Amino acid sequence: MKMAPSILAANFANLGHDVKIVSDAGADYLHIDIMDGHFVPNISFGPSIVKSIRSYTDIPFDVHLMIQNPDQYIEDFVKAGADIITVHVEACPHLHRTLQLIRSFGVKAGVVINPATSASILEPVLHEVDMILCMTVNPGFGGQAFIPSVLPKIEWLAEQREKNNYLYEIEVDGGVNEETIIDCANAGADVFVAGSAIFAKDDPAEALQNLKSVAMK
Ligand code: DX5
Ligand code: ZN
Repeated sequence: MKMAPSILAANFANLGHDVKIVSDAGADYLHIDIMDGHFVPNISFGPSIVKSIRSYTDIPFDVHLMIQNPDQYIEDFVKAGADIITVHVEACPHLHRTLQLIRSFGVKAGVVINPATSASILEPVLHEVDMILCMTVNPGFGGQAFIPSVLPKIEWLAEQREKNNYLYEIEVDGGVNEETIIDCANAGADVFVAGSAIFAKDDPAEALQNLKSVAMK
């Protein structure tokens, strides 16, 4: 069970401080949401911000690219300190090439699917990805409600992994809180992104630890 706090819900004027809080509290990955205003209807930030927080923690940077034409920016995010880069299958007409490109820089490569995308589209790459990220909201904004109809996809991905000895982690992102995290864990997810359920709380460190202990039960 790994927790990946999403800094989308952190205080952008005090990012280093917020990153340190969750890192010291036992975050396993730092989830970093990159939005371009085209693939998703919102803009977050780019590689320079990622680079500026790199020195605040040693935990792996899990960079979720919600952008069109990700190939053009992958190297920039690697240079900025990414350890895992996930791209949306919906934004990658040449998914295999994009995954090869990510791995060519020596970082982990993963694929994201939106709630309305079937997991079966990933079958040809399941043997070679490090992570599958199942969106449990429509990407673009923090603080949205969890979409439970995604759960069977998580179960299917966990079954495929078990049956074929695949090595990918199954990550969930969107609307994860102390209730929904239980359903995700039961379905077979092992990495949990949480933005508002951590950073919108008075004590983000305590919120992170509570979520982790609920997921482990
Ligand atoms: C949504 C982002 C998420 C977001 C999650 O497009 O990919 O990572 O930060 O936020 P919460 O946990 O508030 O739903
Ligand atoms: Zn995300």
